[in-house]
Amino acid sequence: MEDLVALCKRRGFIFQSNEIYGGLQGLYDYGPLGVELKNNLKSSWWASMVYDRDDVEGLDTSILTHPDVLKYSGHEDTFTDPLVDCKSCGLRFRQDQVPDHCKGEDLTEPRDFNLMFKTNVGPVDDGSSYAYLRPETAQQIFTNFKNVVDSTSRTLPFGIAQIGKAFRNEITPRNFIFRVREFEQMELEFFVKPGTDDEWHENWVKLRKEWWVAQGIESSKITYLNVTGDDLSHYSKSTIDLMYEFPHGLEELEGIANRTDFDLGSHSKNQDELNITANIKTNKSSTAKLAIQDIETKKWVVPYVIEPSAGVDRGVLAILNEAFKTERLADGKERIVLSLKPHLAPIKAAVIPLKRNNDDLVNMAKNLKSQLQKLGLGRVVVENTGNIGKSYRKHDEIGTPICITIDFDSLEKNIITIRDRDSMEQTKTNIDKVSDFFITYFRK
Ligand code: GAP
Repeated sequence: MEDLVALCKRRGFIFQSNEIYGGLQGLYDYGPLGVELKNNLKSSWWASMVYDRDDVEGLDTSILTHPDVLKYSGHEDTFTDPLVDCKSCGLRFRQDQVPDHCKGEDLTEPRDFNLMFKTNVGPVDDGSSYAYLRPETAQQIFTNFKNVVDSTSRTLPFGIAQIGKAFRNEITPRNFIFRVREFEQMELEFFVKPGTDDEWHENWVKLRKEWWVAQGIESSKITYLNVTGDDLSHYSKSTIDLMYEFPHGLEELEGIANRTDFDLGSHSKNQDELNITANIKTNKSSTAKLAIQDIETKKWVVPYVIEPSAGVDRGVLAILNEAFKTERLADGKERIVLSLKPHLAPIKAAVIPLKRNNDDLVNMAKNLKSQLQKLGLGRVVVENTGNIGKSYRKHDEIGTPICITIDFDSLEKNIITIRDRDSMEQTKTNIDKVSDFFITYFRK
């Protein structure tokens, strides 16, 4: 983990947030390379969920959430962790995360600590007008269920996907970006006919593991955990967690829950008329019936929901951990290489003129960069250092799959050299062929 954290800071992937004022615990900022990696991961998820399927719509909802939404969702009552105080040092910990140096000390009895952040809305600060920062993106998908059905004429089964920030006042944020207070989620709420939910659940567990493997995570490093007992969320009939071997241990990367008709049922008006199976709170505030009419029977059905919910930050950590390698080369030297899948790489290619101060070489490099940039496959840079070896080392370390060298052969004969990050093989080719090569390489 230390090596990874050091690389992230040195090369500009991830920085501690508010660092110049001493930092704020559980918050991180994504640097010039981190933002590209994160965006690429989110785009890959969005493409697989929304574009590659024909049964999912997208959504982008507000972060500030009406208190009633989180009252009827059950979060006001149950979104808590057990908190203990160490009477000796005065620090507070989650009950299951008391550090060794406090374990033998006098600890208070655990008490429930609600993880939601609350804030005032509007200019009056008398406690009457407040909202929560959403603890999951899911709730506003449920509250928009009718809007999406009415505007798209969807029938079951179908899903709504959303990527966005979520906030949790974690008692003990830890392990770099693994457990933080502000993070991003990629969530799909997939609405199905009651009775077909178990099959869909199984199906989504399989699909989600396959997707993570396609992002570069070794299949054997993702295992399933059947969540039981107190660990099962209040809304879930059954949850399977995808567990990954993070540098600090085996932990949850993504959870796939069967939320039944709990949420749509909880947020619906006229609950008595609907055949809701989940144990929900009576709701007199909502104005919408979050149900769908069965085309054949004309009866109103509250769909069951299968929810694959993944953390972007945990995804970034897993992917960096998986890609980070130190290799011993034939000449005895070591190189650090980040073997990211090409579609996730922050920089797709670096174009390197052989000499820094040669205008012809530099101009040719700039022209090639702009030609490749226009293909829309991701960021391409000109590496104008005049030091090919140093540029290769840098781009290996940040995961750039391709380096292209412009030398005097390029000026005279249009021949450039393409170097592959993983094999380090160098191939000479005509500059006219680079765009096609690029398209084939990044679209494969
Ligand atoms: N809507 C369901 C839900 O929020 P969750 O298991 O609490 O379920 C889903 O969260 C995912 O969000 C987790 O699998 C994890 O990847 C990510 N996540 C949750 N809490 C987090 C935290 N404090 N820091 C970073 N990621 C977190």
